[in-house]
Amino acid sequence: MSHKQHILVTGGAGFIGSHLVDALVLRGYDVTIIDNAVNERIDVINPKAHVLNLDLTEPGTMEKIAALKPDIIYHLAANAGVARSVKDPLFDQKINYAATADLLDVAARIGVKLFVFTSTGGALSSEHTVLPTPEHLACQPLSPYAMHKLASERLGEFYRSEKGVPFVALRFANVYGPRQSVTNGEANIIATFADRMVKNQITNINGTGHQTRDYVYVDDVIDACLRLLDTSKVVGPINVGSGIETSVLQIHHAMADYLGYEQSPEFRAASPGEPMRSCLDVSKALALLGWSPRTTFADGIARTLESHLARKKMMA
Ligand SMILES: NC(=O)c1ccc[n+]([C@@H]2O[C@H](COP(=O)([O-])OP(=O)(O)OC[C@H]3O[C@@H](n4cnc5c(N)ncnc54)[C@H](O)[C@@H]3O)[C@@H](O)[C@H]2O)c1
Repeated sequence: MSHKQHILVTGGAGFIGSHLVDALVLRGYDVTIIDNAVNERIDVINPKAHVLNLDLTEPGTMEKIAALKPDIIYHLAANAGVARSVKDPLFDQKINYAATADLLDVAARIGVKLFVFTSTGGALSSEHTVLPTPEHLACQPLSPYAMHKLASERLGEFYRSEKGVPFVALRFANVYGPRQSVTNGEANIIATFADRMVKNQITNINGTGHQTRDYVYVDDVIDACLRLLDTSKVVGPINVGSGIETSVLQIHHAMADYLGYEQSPEFRAASPGEPMRSCLDVSKALALLGWSPRTTFADGIARTLESHLARKKMMA
């Protein structure tokens, strides 16, 4: 695809979205962000992007997008918190399913060249499936968040086969890195530990700390997103993770070591229903996109902690 195409990034003020916008601007694309939390995140928004402070669930937003006529859509805007979806399934449904459905319909009308949907690998799998979990075995949505992500994927597949929208779903594992909020979203234990450790505050661990997840560094996730621009043969959901299980205790030790943090964590009751293990099989991404994660856990942790240290220094 040639440069100077117009790309819409929904959720472009968020953690992953802001990194994606930077990468797209760097490659010379004309980028528009739509996000309803622009003012709170102004420090991470690329000044070369056009910014629209709009809510995707409000009437009128879809017509504005149709008028913008982007060539490509990366749809990242979401309620990224599983717990919030459990507390308020209807709220989650509006942004995580209904807004995706509306956006797919606009995409079909204006004839986009690519529609990328950011789904979840972790929330769609559990330890009852094969580990690491390949895409076709990972369909056990337990939370409204996971249900709405899966329903959006399926609707996207429908729009691909019936309405000609070049739809691709990327299923992210637990993404981490600089700019991850400690208050939004949920897959942010690394951000939470970083925030507390740089302030020398006590950290908390729910359960034994032996529970594992698949942690993937944000730059690797952006690399996978960008590779979709150079291929048209990608079909179906694609896992984007490290393919490696890391426990909460391993994360704690690695981060404490890096910082010279000496406090022991405070253990709390395990979160009900939390799976003990989760890890994604990422071989499909390698086969279709030539993608594999390049950042080691040690490097990713170092870069994340350095960004927290720099922020602390700036605030002082
Ligand atoms: N972070 C992870 O580990 C992870 C894992 C799996 C999937 N994902 C998915 O990746 C995407 C990005 O996640 P993130 O971690 O950057 O989350 P984030 O919360 O940092 O970013 C989401 C952005 O969407 C915006 N948004 C929310 N509701 C909106 C609305 N109604 N209208 C307009 N904008 C709205 C928010 O303001 C925010 O800036 C999400 O779709 C999330 O479900 C993330």
